[in-house]
Amino acid sequence: MHTQICDDLGIEFPIFAFTHCRDVVVAVSKAGGFGVLGAVGFSPEQLEIELNWIDEHIGDHPYGVDIVIPNKYEGMDANMSTEELTKMLQDMVPKGHLEFARKLLTDHGVPLPDEGEDNSLQLLGWTEATATPQVEVALRHEKMTLIANALGTPPPEVMDLIHGAGRKVAALCGSPYQARKHADAGVDIIIAQGGEGGGHCGEVGSIVLWPQVVAEVAPVPVLAAGGIGSGQQIAAALALGGQGARTGSQWLMVEESDNTPVQQQTPGNPEPLGMPLQYMVSGPAVAATHRYPDQTVDVAFNPVGQVVGQFKKVEKTGAVIQRWVEEYLEATEHLNAVNAAAV
Ligand SMILES: Cc1cc2nc3c(=O)[nH]c(=O)nc-3n(C[C@H](O)[C@H](O)[C@H](O)COP(=O)(O)O)c2cc1C
Repeated sequence: MHTQICDDLGIEFPIFAFTHCRDVVVAVSKAGGFGVLGAVGFSPEQLEIELNWIDEHIGDHPYGVDIVIPNKYEGMDANMSTEELTKMLQDMVPKGHLEFARKLLTDHGVPLPDEGEDNSLQLLGWTEATATPQVEVALRHEKMTLIANALGTPPPEVMDLIHGAGRKVAALCGSPYQARKHADAGVDIIIAQGGEGGGHCGEVGSIVLWPQVVAEVAPVPVLAAGGIGSGQQIAAALALGGQGARTGSQWLMVEESDNTPVQQQTPGNPEPLGMPLQYMVSGPAVAATHRYPDQTVDVAFNPVGQVVGQFKKVEKTGAVIQRWVEEYLEATEHLNAVNAAAV
């Protein structure tokens, strides 16, 4: 299991793992894959601490950081300072939404954060103004060689910043149209994510999307994402033209992760807000559910992709990578046997 992107990034297997957990980043990169730390929930100062820890534990292996700058968000064209933008967006969040989130927690016995430590209504990532300091922090770390952006083509200034530091840019897409925009903007690696994925990009399924994106942007390398949780699925991704697999849900189910996937429907929610207002309501509530997992089973927010249905047990990260490589080989041997029998 080796493609050009492995040589380009100095890794053994083209397995990319998105996670919010620094331990998993380290474990994946050490096992021969490429760990990517989701940075959206970290302030620049917190991110610096996480990346220092990763640097200390990851040896000579590379890793990446994932930021979130949506294509469209409230206040995008406002041309304001971060403080002014934050204030404007804070004022836009309806009080009823905040009360709904807090009531949901208190109704289920989840303690609310103390006044002083409540980061309620802080922006963190989610805009160019707030994600750029995260990028600047990431670029100070030599082993951090790739920055991926969810939800849009990174703005030109952000692209220049990353490329100017000699690092690569990746971006997620859910359609060939978005992929073309990424490629035209100079994105180095396109991540085509089918609707099966956790934190998905669109409605189109992976098996339909991946080859369309590959054809659209060739020769720009494409990582296949959405619904990959086995080596057979990696074989399918490579068969459909992907140079590797970007995965997320699986890493909630490894020993090194601090997450436990629990999915919960909550009927009766208010209408969804635009970005990034949603996060300004849900962020503190999600933080509280992570802090008090035992009290939170009924209201836990743990996004996960459709692949969750095939997870049967919690494993070590290294064991997952090893299993995926073996399953990949089994799948390719199976195909070889099919082809040989047909001659
Ligand atoms: C719990 C969770 C949180 C995620 N958060 C982000 C995020 O903040 N930014 C992002 O680019 N992708 C995010 N994703 C998507 C992953 O990066 C990855 O592309 C996706 O999970 C791949 O599909 P899979 O879940 O089927 O493996 C998230 C996925 C999960 C499961």
